[in-house]
Amino acid sequence: MSETIYQGLAGVNVDRTQISHIDGLKGELIYRGYDIRELANKASFEEVTYLLWNDDLPTQEQLSAFSESLKPHYKLPAEIIEVLRLMPKDTHPMHAVRTAVSMLGAVDADAEGVDLDNIHRIGLSLTAKFPSFVAAFERIRNGLEPVNPDPELNIAGNFLYMLTGEKPTEAATNVMDVALVLHAEHGSNASTFVARAVASTLTDGYSAITAACGSLKGPLHGGANAAVMGALEKIGSVDKVEDYVMNILNSPGGRVMGFGHRVYRVLDPRAIILKEVSHNLAEESGDSKWFEMSLEMERVMDREMAKKGKQVKPNVDFFSASVYRMLGFPTDMYTPIFAVARISGWMAHLYEQYADNKLMRPRMVYEGPVGRSFKALADR
Ligand SMILES: CC(C)(COP(=O)(O)OP(=O)(O)OC[C@H]1O[C@@H](n2cnc3c(N)ncnc32)[C@H](O)[C@@H]1OP(=O)(O)O)[C@@H](O)C(=O)NCCC(=O)NCCS
Repeated sequence: MSETIYQGLAGVNVDRTQISHIDGLKGELIYRGYDIRELANKASFEEVTYLLWNDDLPTQEQLSAFSESLKPHYKLPAEIIEVLRLMPKDTHPMHAVRTAVSMLGAVDADAEGVDLDNIHRIGLSLTAKFPSFVAAFERIRNGLEPVNPDPELNIAGNFLYMLTGEKPTEAATNVMDVALVLHAEHGSNASTFVARAVASTLTDGYSAITAACGSLKGPLHGGANAAVMGALEKIGSVDKVEDYVMNILNSPGGRVMGFGHRVYRVLDPRAIILKEVSHNLAEESGDSKWFEMSLEMERVMDREMAKKGKQVKPNVDFFSASVYRMLGFPTDMYTPIFAVARISGWMAHLYEQYADNKLMRPRMVYEGPVGRSFKALADR
């Protein structure tokens, strides 16, 4: 009797969740019932993080208290800065991110507790510290001293401030905030699943988030935004886009980065918003090259996929690449920026996982040999 194999766990429901839902046919994403298109325009990253961790959006009073509770956690312990200084300057910054989370676990005397109060404390600490260590590593690898966080700024503004040492404009802070809201949560994506699977052993929250960082780094997941930018840089100009895309599509198993999704069969709603943001930034900055190349790539992919009858559309990573480029971030920092946002979603899922835990332990269909007789080492 042949057993069903769900390779890549495609289509498998591993648990229930109240946090978010994707309707891949309609192109809808909701965080606890609220449409992402509305949240991106109207709610801050702090508001959205509160929403993901609680049942509903905060009142003004709840939001102020929540924002205040994040601020004492902005500053990095000295050990983290020391570890970041020890990292090779040319290492991928996601190695620094993953290592910083792991080190934070090592220096937290209460790392082990998986009761909700402790996980909530760790959630506040990590959400506040992700921007701090991403920015600190960026400065250290460029031979600069880390900038201390400014408790007056929100997460988006503080991140930009700690990168440059200069107070960011309101416009830049807003674009950063929208990007964080859009990347905060996305159901049972690979890294969130990894975080939940690790937490399901009842190990500590830091271990779960360290593993999630490793998963996010991959080019089929959060690493895709950097891969998109790498492709745009390699292509160089609008007239070369078509050849580049056709070359990939004509090679066996070729994947154009920033396109396709396991769940969406229509355009990812986050891509629609980021496309608009990218367009606006291109107009404001007068540097429209990256946006125009992205549009051309989308046009060629649409045409080719339509010929093959496939629904492969731009995903969140596609237009975030040109947005981050126009905001001035180096390409290898795109995935760490994704992590700065996604920590809020990961933590929401850890609350759910620890609150109603079942060890994740799927099976595999064995297809190897059976019944072999053992030969002593000397006889082989
Ligand atoms: C995201 C991704 C891994 C989803 O993969 P999946 O659900 O396993 O789907 P598949 O890779 O099996 O693709 C299904 C079909 O669409 C096509 N396809 C999917 N994504 C494609 C892409 N980026 N470029 C070209 N073709 C693509 C495949 O050719 C495949 O056709 P086939 O069935 O004839 O082989 C995949 O779309 C991909 O590799 N995208 C590029 C990386 C990326 O942008 N990742 C970020 C996701 S948010």
